[in-house]
Amino acid sequence: MKFDNKIALVTGSAQGIGFSIAEKLASEGATVIIADIAEDAAKSASEKLKSAGAKSDYTAMDVSDFNQVAEKMKALVEKHERIDILVNNAGITRDGLILRMSEKDWDMVLDINLKSVFNCSKALARSMMKTGGVIVNVASIIGQMGNAGQANYAASKGGIIALTKTLAKEFASRGVRANAVAPGFISTAMTDKLSEEVKGKMLEAIPLKRLGRPEDVANLVSFLCSDESAYITGQVVRIDGGMVM
Ligand SMILES: NC(=O)c1ccc[n+]([C@@H]2O[C@H](COP(=O)([O-])OP(=O)(O)OC[C@H]3O[C@@H](n4cnc5c(N)ncnc54)[C@H](O)[C@@H]3O)[C@@H](O)[C@H]2O)c1
Repeated sequence: MKFDNKIALVTGSAQGIGFSIAEKLASEGATVIIADIAEDAAKSASEKLKSAGAKSDYTAMDVSDFNQVAEKMKALVEKHERIDILVNNAGITRDGLILRMSEKDWDMVLDINLKSVFNCSKALARSMMKTGGVIVNVASIIGQMGNAGQANYAASKGGIIALTKTLAKEFASRGVRANAVAPGFISTAMTDKLSEEVKGKMLEAIPLKRLGRPEDVANLVSFLCSDESAYITGQVVRIDGGMVM
């Protein structure tokens, strides 16, 4: 299988897009570490993978906490010998117009969505440079377009795109690739919060006339993690049903 003997860590993978990515990588032979702030949910996600015959581990991890990430990644690399694939997927929204957005909501979104990518990539950089590896970051079309009511989220996702290109440039000569995916509107707990009116407007703007499924994103991430994309680095691949073109 594509990921036989590969160790993958997916952040924010207790549910949603992250869990779908974990399932896909596991179904293709990877040992998948579920890393999520929600410990019970991470444990049950990992058990679900194992009951489907895959190899899996889990850890409670707040990706926004630099020291905690460094410690936990070190322990995981010792336990599993290396981590070949890092998918930085954890992310949240705290929407509001700039005039009403609190400093707390700005900081929280930037820390969980963007600083986390620095924290996790830095914590694994040395080990990945020794063995080779792949990083895939989950950005968003909002990071490319901006969006009223999402200053914090847009800035975090735009930052991920710039950080991805920098990781790609710094790590390429050491055998580590870094790419980002930019999903449009994907059906998960994050978008379930939106009103029917907003969802209706989105559908009108999507040529393929449906919201994306977490599995759509997982298929793309799996490709970017595999040797099939061995000559692709520093790219942002949009997956949005044609919404932005
Ligand atoms: N759903 C969409 O339409 C959409 C579109 C574009 C991009 N994205 C991005 O995809 C990623 C996954 O989104 P989703 O829709 O699956 O969201 P979700 O809310 O279903 O899942 C997010 C996961 O991240 C975890 N998490 C939150 N804070 C964390 C922290 N500090 N440390 C570790 N884990 C944490 C949560 O516990 C949860 O398991 C996010 O980065 C999101 O911005 C989603």
